[in-house]
Amino acid sequence: MRILLLFIMSVLFFSCNKTSEKEAYLASEEYSKAKKLIASKCYTCHNPLPANGNRIAPPMFAIKQHYLNEQTTKEDFINGVKFWIENPKEENIRMPGAVKKFGIMPKVFYAENEIELIAEYIFYNDFKRPREHKKRSSKKTEKKPLNETTKIEKVKSYISETQSLLAQNLIGKINKEGTINAIEFCNLKALKLTDSIAKNHNVTINRISDKYRNSFNKASKEEEGYIKIFKEAIKNKKESKPIIVNNINGENIYFPIKTNGLCLQCHGKVGGELKEDTYKKIKELYPKDMAIDYDINQIRGAWKVTIK
Ligand code: HEC
Ligand code: HEC
Repeated sequence: MRILLLFIMSVLFFSCNKTSEKEAYLASEEYSKAKKLIASKCYTCHNPLPANGNRIAPPMFAIKQHYLNEQTTKEDFINGVKFWIENPKEENIRMPGAVKKFGIMPKVFYAENEIELIAEYIFYNDFKRPREHKKRSSKKTEKKPLNETTKIEKVKSYISETQSLLAQNLIGKINKEGTINAIEFCNLKALKLTDSIAKNHNVTINRISDKYRNSFNKASKEEEGYIKIFKEAIKNKKESKPIIVNNINGENIYFPIKTNGLCLQCHGKVGGELKEDTYKKIKELYPKDMAIDYDINQIRGAWKVTIK
């Protein structure tokens, strides 16, 4: 009897131990740190929310499924994720379907302790499967007058379409031929598809920056002001609202462009994420380049959509 009691008590003890381990983690400083890290470093591509046709990488939910089973210990899990991030190569993939669909994940520089924090977060956090809404196939463009919010929603969708095309092109090119050969692929004009999006919707899409690489993308004085507003919003951890400006040529709508890890290969610190030889090539093409020294989650510039 006593042994049975002891047995029951120890079972209770151990199972409580497991949930309390998770609870302790959820209340820890590591948890809140990791939550911010993963949002800025991983969700840019691994959007946990429905991406409505604009997905550029599998959601975290799916990744966790492929890296965790009943036998996986926390340590194994963290090591598995860490190994992948440091060695994102064809021979190490566990998600061949995702590679086919999105191309292989680009190698991005992350500090080791950051990867560990993020991996621990993925281990404990319960991700939900995002319920994707199928995008309606492009019907003939409707000519109804749009009210302000649906107009902004539309413009937003053109931008996310363009943005994911740009990212896919960059990632694909970087993976196949390396960063240097991908340099020209951050040019919107290189994307024939941007033009077709713009033509289909009767808008023009450009990017502007206060610290531009190509002077064609130079922000005007007023536009520098809009970029400042976006920077302030980030500083105050507020979500930026698009800025709408009417003038004689039509209406311009501005949205912030933020950096993520991928961008730093060409817009980061020289000698750090931005390798010397990559920078040399950039300087050859753009002798007056100013678009370096960025960190992640900073305002790189703005999308400018002009509605005629
Ligand atoms: C620039 C976009 C991008 C960023 C940023 C990014 N990933 Fe990925 N990741 C991808 C793509 C695309 C895939 C799917 C193709 C593949 O498996 O390589 C992927 C796949 C993965 C996989 C599964 C790999 C496999 O096939 O076994 C893991 C794990 C992963 N990412 C973790 C992370 C973590 C953690 C972060 C943040 C530190 C992160 N990724 C940031 C694009 C990105
Ligand atoms: C492989 C190198 C490379 C990568 C990676 C890269 N860029 Fe660029 N970026 C460039 C080059 C080159 C230009 C100049 C393009 C042109 O001539 O219009 C540029 C231009 C831009 C511009 C237009 C303003 C300007 O400075 O001329 C923006 C905005 C921009 N990049 C944002 C980003 C963001 C955001 C990312 C990450 C998602 C990124 N870039 C990743 C190379 C890169």
